[in-house]
Amino acid sequence: MRKWGGLIARYGARLAISQSVEPVTLYEGDTPLIPAPRLGDAVVPGGQLFLKYEGLNPTGSFKDRGMTTAITQAVADGARSVVCASTGNTAASAAAYAARAGLKCIVLIPDGKIALGKLAGAVAYGARVIAVKGSFDDGLRMVREASERAPVALVNSVNPARLQGQKTAAWEVTEQLGQAPDWLCLPIGNAGNITAYWLGFCEDEKGLPRLLGAQAAGAAPLIQGKQIKNPETRATAIRIGNPARWQEAVSALERSNGHVLSVTDDEIFAAYHMTARLEGIFCEPSSAAGVAGLIKSVASGKVNPEGKRFVCVLTGHGLKDPDSAVDGAERPISIAPTTAAFLEVLGV
Ligand code: F0G
Repeated sequence: MRKWGGLIARYGARLAISQSVEPVTLYEGDTPLIPAPRLGDAVVPGGQLFLKYEGLNPTGSFKDRGMTTAITQAVADGARSVVCASTGNTAASAAAYAARAGLKCIVLIPDGKIALGKLAGAVAYGARVIAVKGSFDDGLRMVREASERAPVALVNSVNPARLQGQKTAAWEVTEQLGQAPDWLCLPIGNAGNITAYWLGFCEDEKGLPRLLGAQAAGAAPLIQGKQIKNPETRATAIRIGNPARWQEAVSALERSNGHVLSVTDDEIFAAYHMTARLEGIFCEPSSAAGVAGLIKSVASGKVNPEGKRFVCVLTGHGLKDPDSAVDGAERPISIAPTTAAFLEVLGV
C-alpha cells in the first residue's frame, strides 16, 4: 500500500487553510528531484544541476500543489462553483480538482493561445471553457471582478490558499537535497510560483537559495519595469504582461539576492531541446525558460557555477504542448513494410 496521501495529509497544519473538511486530493506532490549530470556539464561546469520535475503531478503541472489547497478551502467555504483565468495549466488543474470535489468549474483562456494538452485536460475533466478575445491579463481582470459579484470562488494564485500548497515544493527540494540549493531557477509568469517558493523557504528555516527568475522576452514586465499590453511568446504558459504577484516577486528576488532576466523564444527552445535530449526529461517550453535563464546567466558571468548546486524547476510536462514538440521537427520517414527497406535506412 502506497503511503503517500497528497500534500494536505503530509503537511497538515503547516498549510494555513481550513482543516474542517476532508482534503480534496489527487495525491499531488512528492515529485522527483532528478540529478542532471549531462545537462549540468553543459550548463553549470564545475557545479551540480538537479531538475525538480513538476510535470509528474497528476494533471501534469505544479498547479496541482496549489489546487489541492485552493479547492479544499473552497469546499470548506461552501462554494459550489470555481473560476479561474488561465494560460492552460491552472485551467486543467482547477477542472480536475473541481471534478474530484463535485464542484462546477469555469475557466477563461486566451483565445487560440493555449497548448492542446491543456485544453484537452480542461475539457476532459468537464470544465466549462470560455475563450476570451484578449490576453491572460484580460481574463484575470474579468474573473477577479466577476467573483466579487457572482457566487463563485476564484482559484487563481491571487487566492492565498494557492500559495499554501505551492510553497511545499520548496520544502521538498530542501528535503531531497539535504539542504537548500545555492540557486533555484524558475520561469515567471503571473509570479505566484516564485512567491510561493520564497514563502516556503523562509518558513522552513533550513537555508535560503538565491532565486533566478526568467521571463520570456516578449512578456517581460519585471525586466522592462512596466506592464506589457500585448505579451507575445511561443512559451504560451508565461504569456503574461501584468503579473498579479509582481511586487511579491520583486521582493523575493531582492531579498534572496537573486537575479531576474529575460530569455528569447530561441533561447527557451534551445534549453527545451537540451533538457530532453541530454537527460531524457521532457518539459513544456515555458518550463525550459528557467534552464535558459541559467544558461544565459552563467554565460554572462552573472552566476558563477563553480562548486554550486542548482535546482531548475520544470513546471509542466512536455506532453502538455505536443505542437511545440513536433513543429519544425523532422517528420518520420515512411518506408515499405520490409526488413530490406529498414536495413537500407540503417545503411546496411
Ligand atoms: N510554468 C508553467 C508550465 C505555467 O503554466 C506557469 C503559469 C508558469 C510556469 C509561471 O508560473 O504564473 O506562478 O509565475 N501558468 C498559469 C496558468 C498562468 O494559467 O496555468 P507563475
